[in-house]
Amino acid sequence: MNEQPPSLIELRGERVVLRTLVASDASRIAELAAHPDVARWYPDATEDYLRRKAAGKPHQGFFAVVYEGETVGFIQYHEEVSPEYHSAGIDLFLGAPYHNRGLGTDTVRTLARHLIQDLEHHRLIIDPVAHNERAIRAYEKVGFRRVGIMRQYQRDPDGTWRDGLLLDLLATELT
Ligand SMILES: CC(C)(COP(=O)(O)OP(=O)(O)OC[C@H]1O[C@@H](n2cnc3c(N)ncnc32)[C@H](O)[C@@H]1OP(=O)(O)O)[C@@H](O)C(=O)NCCC(=O)NCCS
Repeated sequence: MNEQPPSLIELRGERVVLRTLVASDASRIAELAAHPDVARWYPDATEDYLRRKAAGKPHQGFFAVVYEGETVGFIQYHEEVSPEYHSAGIDLFLGAPYHNRGLGTDTVRTLARHLIQDLEHHRLIIDPVAHNERAIRAYEKVGFRRVGIMRQYQRDPDGTWRDGLLLDLLATELT
């Protein structure tokens, strides 16, 4: 099938800008992802993985996170398109030097706003490793609520299965 390249869009948050991922972002973002404090929570974001994302996929969106003119991370969404379940899921990482500065909260809020206001989703989900307290705190600040534990949900690079925490947010709950 001949797929269209993704159209380039830019979403402005309070401090970050989310810009459609392009192939030339892949090496910088893969470098950020290789840091142990990113890879332990978000494994396998290799240059090849990011290049494939930059080529685009139906019902998914991929963005470089830009802060003060620098690329500092990656965020993506996938849409559940069947009308009965119409909703979207998000995940992301920022490079280690950019953690704990409020940028992740701004990044998630900016994409969530786009998914709700522009793509008309009424419900979003996000599913960090259950002991990723920093991620959970950032998502709760945006309005996500804890749904429950998904047992042995994600495999660590060392082969260990980790529980995941499912959080969801209804459109009216976005802060
Ligand atoms: C998860 C991530 C996106 C969050 O972004 P961030 O910019 O670091 O987060 P923010 O600064 O916006 O918010 C973090 C909050 O967690 C708090 N926090 C930090 N470490 C914490 C911990 N160990 N336990 C509890 N809360 C913690 C911070 O104090 C802050 O809350 P506050 O504003 O109320 O003080 C980012 O840290 C990251 O990319 N981490 C590595 C990859 C990853 O975990 N990805 C998530 C996959 S689902």
